[in-house]
Amino acid sequence: MNTRVLTGITTTGTPHLGNYVGAIRPAVHESTQEGVDAFFFMADYHALIKCDDPARVQRSRLEIAATWLAAGLDPARTTFYQQSDIPEIPELTWLLTCVTAKGLLNRAHAYKAAVDKNTESGEDADAGITAGLYMYPVLMAADILAFNANKVPVGRDQVQHIEMARDIAQRFNHLYDGDFFTLPEAHVEAHVATLPGLDGRKMSKSYDNTIPLFEGGPKRMREAISRIVTDSREPGEPKQAEGTALFTIYQAFASADEGAAFADALKGGMAWGEAKKQLFERLERDVAPMREHYDALMARPDEIADVLRDGAKKARAQATPLLERLREAVGLGQAKPAPVKKAKKKAAKRARFVSFREADGKFHFRFVDADGAELALSRGFDDPKAAGMATRALMGAEAIVQARDKVFVLSVGDDVLAESPAYADPAARDDAMARARQALASLADAD
Ligand code: TRP
Repeated sequence: MNTRVLTGITTTGTPHLGNYVGAIRPAVHESTQEGVDAFFFMADYHALIKCDDPARVQRSRLEIAATWLAAGLDPARTTFYQQSDIPEIPELTWLLTCVTAKGLLNRAHAYKAAVDKNTESGEDADAGITAGLYMYPVLMAADILAFNANKVPVGRDQVQHIEMARDIAQRFNHLYDGDFFTLPEAHVEAHVATLPGLDGRKMSKSYDNTIPLFEGGPKRMREAISRIVTDSREPGEPKQAEGTALFTIYQAFASADEGAAFADALKGGMAWGEAKKQLFERLERDVAPMREHYDALMARPDEIADVLRDGAKKARAQATPLLERLREAVGLGQAKPAPVKKAKKKAAKRARFVSFREADGKFHFRFVDADGAELALSRGFDDPKAAGMATRALMGAEAIVQARDKVFVLSVGDDVLAESPAYADPAARDDAMARARQALASLADAD
């Protein structure tokens, strides 16, 4: 069976060189390998956790999608979609939420960091923390488990989330006694995961030390490169390449030979300015053709939307049957048609015949309504059998209910079987007659 590789990018920003080297490039490469089914998506539900600017979320989604495509992603051989097009994901999130220990979420790094920050500044521990941030690992688990991904390429900061997804999957499998979920494995690209930024720390938007990938064109890229921090060695002085941000970025694009030549040149006294120029040129060799593609895509957002819509269809073809199975497992499935019990309105009382024997030895019955009020009283019968036949006859089609002065009578043919109490006026009598007819009809229906 093929390996399912899945990863998402949160749509809050514009991709930078670090995103490209650390996530996009290796993922696109992997998607071209034999035996790999790749699932890549724009994590726009995740974006809402940290961003309440709709224009930014929308623009970022477009930029990230265009970046994937410009970087060589083939939507025909991958499943490429936007998270919010897959209603099964939030649905699965709830099913998982209900088996996730709250304590597990208390330990999530992102949540804990926010709590620590509050505590340090003397705030209430949960000040400004949304339930969205708290639930983030469950949403992420749903992203992964909805497609039963085997392998999840992520940055180091995301490894804990994949471990939580495994925990949650295991717990669900155990609780509902089935192999519903595959346990995913995190995959950290060891040598590229941490591209340094302009200041040498990890390249990250939160450090404001990034080199933009496409935005701003070659001009912005050159300008950013010029701000890479170096030591103060003059031109002509030998320089140590290893460990510098500049060289590490260069290596992320260059072959081993190119890298060695670059390091040699620095050792031989190449000026930092010249090194930056060479870095720019090396980057441009890879980036310029992609940027052209990117700009063309960004000019046709409808085409991107079409690609994503097709991707969502493909993705849902996987997620829908799984969710159906899960719904069934937890008891939300379509109920099997139970054997239809005859509607015996046990609780609801109904009209009936109450038989009794008089002192004279004759057998009688009283016809009473659902509330027990007497509608009619029978004449005397010589034996219970005759009385029973009379009640059955009254429930039949031949029974007649007719007015007779202050009363009404129940008869079959010419045989008057029962008679109502006397009523003060014809209206009350007619009223009672109507109730008697209904009561008889209800008995006939029930049988
Ligand atoms: N949370 C991830 C990040 O910030 C993005 C992401 C969302 C993701 N869902 C995912 C990554 C599922 C891998 C798998 O980087």
